[in-house]
Amino acid sequence: MKTRLTLIFLIAVSIAITCVVIDRGRAQNAKQASPIYGVTIPDGYRHWELIAPALEGDPLNELRAVVGNAEAMNAYRSGTLPFPDGAILVKLAWKRTQSHEFEPASVPGAPTTVQVMVKDSKKYAASGGWGFGRFIDGKAVDQAQHETCFACHEARVQGHDYVFTRYAP
Ligand code: HEC
Repeated sequence: MKTRLTLIFLIAVSIAITCVVIDRGRAQNAKQASPIYGVTIPDGYRHWELIAPALEGDPLNELRAVVGNAEAMNAYRSGTLPFPDGAILVKLAWKRTQSHEFEPASVPGAPTTVQVMVKDSKKYAASGGWGFGRFIDGKAVDQAQHETCFACHEARVQGHDYVFTRYAP
């Protein structure tokens, strides 16, 4: 009898702990979602294919790499525009620093931002079908910054489905 009670008690405690852990995970996910769009950093993006690198001069002075998931890469390869629903583009950025080993070379320093564009033509109909997210240290930046995303992409690359980056062969 006593062992049975102990067992029931232990099971109850494990269930309670599991609930707390799941709840915490949810709260963290909610924090990571971008304002306005609810975009999160996609799992596994660091293993995605390179579309092209980029360099931005002063004052940001950053090295960047834009990568895409399989849906995005298929669209690039076949020249499909607009990008299909499910396509995701991620822009990674680092401070540009001088190589210690070879001065003329620029190498990535500290990471600065991770930026995400997710294609969902229905959900994001008001912003050209794209949802935007900008993250620093894994956390989404404020709403004011997210209000600028579509405006700039719309003003400059409306004719390329609001995407700047072209595939670098
Ligand atoms: C003032 C203009 C401007 C604003 C504002 C802007 N972007 Fe961009 N974005 C660019 C340019 C230019 C590129 C091309 C890559 C590069 O030069 O870094 C780019 C590239 C991207 C890419 C890679 C796909 C592509 O279009 O090439 C993503 C993802 C992205 N931006 C997300 C965002 C998010 C999220 C925001 C808002 C928080 C944002 N951008 C705000 C100019 C802008």
